[in-house]
Amino acid sequence: MAKRVIIIGAGAILNAWHKPLKAEGVEVAAVVDLNKAAAEAKIAKFEFEGAKAHDDLGTAIAESNADFAVDLTTPNAHCKVVCQSLEAGLDVIGEKPMSETLDQARKMVATADQTGRLYMVSQSRRYVDAHQQIAATVKAGKIGRITSMHCDFFMGCHFGGFRDEMDHVLVNDMSIHHFDLARLFVDADPVSVFAEEYVPAESWYRDGPNANCLFTMTDDIRFTYRGSWCAEGMHTSWHGNWRIIGTKGTITYENDQAPRGQIVVSEEGFNRPLGDVTLAAAPELAGGQHGALQEFLSAIDGGPTPQGECHDNIKSMAMVDYAVQSAESGQRVEVTI
Ligand SMILES: NC(=O)c1ccc[n+]([C@@H]2O[C@H](COP(=O)([O-])OP(=O)(O)OC[C@H]3O[C@@H](n4cnc5c(N)ncnc54)[C@H](O)[C@@H]3O)[C@@H](O)[C@H]2O)c1
Repeated sequence: MAKRVIIIGAGAILNAWHKPLKAEGVEVAAVVDLNKAAAEAKIAKFEFEGAKAHDDLGTAIAESNADFAVDLTTPNAHCKVVCQSLEAGLDVIGEKPMSETLDQARKMVATADQTGRLYMVSQSRRYVDAHQQIAATVKAGKIGRITSMHCDFFMGCHFGGFRDEMDHVLVNDMSIHHFDLARLFVDADPVSVFAEEYVPAESWYRDGPNANCLFTMTDDIRFTYRGSWCAEGMHTSWHGNWRIIGTKGTITYENDQAPRGQIVVSEEGFNRPLGDVTLAAAPELAGGQHGALQEFLSAIDGGPTPQGECHDNIKSMAMVDYAVQSAESGQRVEVTI
């Protein structure tokens, strides 16, 4: 029987979710938004037959006989709507970031524990073949034991609007993608971080468009992150440009080109002779939010724990939160979840 969903939040990102929901045969029972007219408009636009618009989540839950909820609200609402849905017995898949603060995220994880429901955060950049290939290649030990990882992210983004005034704009609004990818690529978690944020000359942002973060990760891996939303010219990819170094070789991934790697093939010479790394095959996953939705649906039918399950995803959230704490205090800080 088709699963029934309540969509919470009828904003821009629903554009990325309506096709995957239809493709997976999910029935949209209700769309909830503080602005009921927005919910009505999206039901009409995406032809969610039989779906009812609501401006109150409680009523939608009571009336819709849904199996799960998709949280597409703004981050300041995630904690409230996710906890309410879990407490009503629904499993939830939601957009990143988990919440605005780590304390809220802790409450969401605790609510998932107390209710025994699944709460998964969709980190859409995990569902990119190249990213899964890098993770699989590292996991297969093809470049040895990982020692270091570096990510550069440089863009000149003139968004206008709230971001120009936002606190810690780069780390709070963008870096979760890169920090979560770092955890995916080398299967390691944050231990401590020293971060510096600054506002470059002639910045059109008020706070933190540039950030340099030095993470120590588990397995003694060092992860350096240099990012800017205020860098004109020679932009990197939105995914960032990466260099992952192991004891036997290196993988690079730059400007959305296929990842490449080299490994030492002989133990002689000043620079050791190198050969190309054959990258491991990526698991077959649909792209972006569709991949996340497939993993979620499989998990609620008894399949494996999905990527982005809240106990795991909170570690990516923590990288953001503690980077901000370090930038504010000027000190290296230990990460505790
Ligand atoms: N994966 C990605 O690459 C990606 C890209 C863009 C946005 N996002 C994420 O998607 C989420 C939504 O972003 P958006 O761009 O669609 O925002 P948006 O502002 O366009 O839409 C959010 C909607 O949620 C509604 N809303 C807010 N609080 C609510 C509540 N308590 N109950 C019901 N409705 C509520 C708002 O009225 C609004 O219509 C954010 O978490 C954002 O970070 C992810």
